[in-house]
Amino acid sequence: MATSISTPLIAPSGEFDSTFVTAAKSELANSGLVRIAHFPSTAHAFVGFLAAFGDPLPYYGDDAGTHPDHPAIWRVRYEPQAAERGEIHAMAGPLEPHSSQSLRWPRPPFFSMLMVSSGWQDRPEGYNGETLVVRWSDAVQLMRSDPAGAAAVRNLFTDVPFPDGIHRSIAYRLTNAADADDVGIRIKSGLLDHLRSTAARHPATSALKRLSEAAAQVATRVTLRSGDLLLLDNNRWGHGRESVIGYEIDVGGAVKLNPRELWSATVG
Ligand SMILES: [Fe+2]
Repeated sequence: MATSISTPLIAPSGEFDSTFVTAAKSELANSGLVRIAHFPSTAHAFVGFLAAFGDPLPYYGDDAGTHPDHPAIWRVRYEPQAAERGEIHAMAGPLEPHSSQSLRWPRPPFFSMLMVSSGWQDRPEGYNGETLVVRWSDAVQLMRSDPAGAAAVRNLFTDVPFPDGIHRSIAYRLTNAADADDVGIRIKSGLLDHLRSTAARHPATSALKRLSEAAAQVATRVTLRSGDLLLLDNNRWGHGRESVIGYEIDVGGAVKLNPRELWSATVG
């Protein structure tokens, strides 16, 4: 697994001037991903900055996890009762690389995460909620390195039933593709489990398993500190995380919750 991405830009202390926005746009266009440090943790600043890249979209699921200050922000933090109800924004544990708003078409071009509080960072590697980012073309290229994998890449373009009942392909062509491996990928969280139970023999199901395995090999692990923002190309890059510990019980028997809090938003 790779361990670093480009040096972060530093957010200006005042308003985001056009020079800063231009620098972020240029980095995003060049590498498909930009990291910014010292970003203010306010809904106003986050949504205001993202508006320079498009329309910050309200989350299209239920309202669980939506930030009270702005409907475009999804607040990801461990909450025991909501986790019990199976609400993803509130759960502990890892998240395999996936896409933002994978059921939406046209595909929202950008996705952003702002680490408001990095929470517990003194756990063993892989248990600090480290962010994972995957450039899908790297994963596709790795798949093509053997003949069975090359056939699996083709199968990623066949339609399969997504959890909303609509058939779509996992991979799709990009109008401005740089080469054959430069494809768009849409993966909903939990899609592989869904396909295993609804379309176990479909060739795209085993192709998705191969893609997930390749993605795990080429993923970059990024430790986001409080105030770090990541903005990425939602067609070309997947995002996920290593495990998050939700709570611990101290020596006196009291339950302590991990204060980790991350905001995410999708730009259409
Ligand atoms: Fe996500």
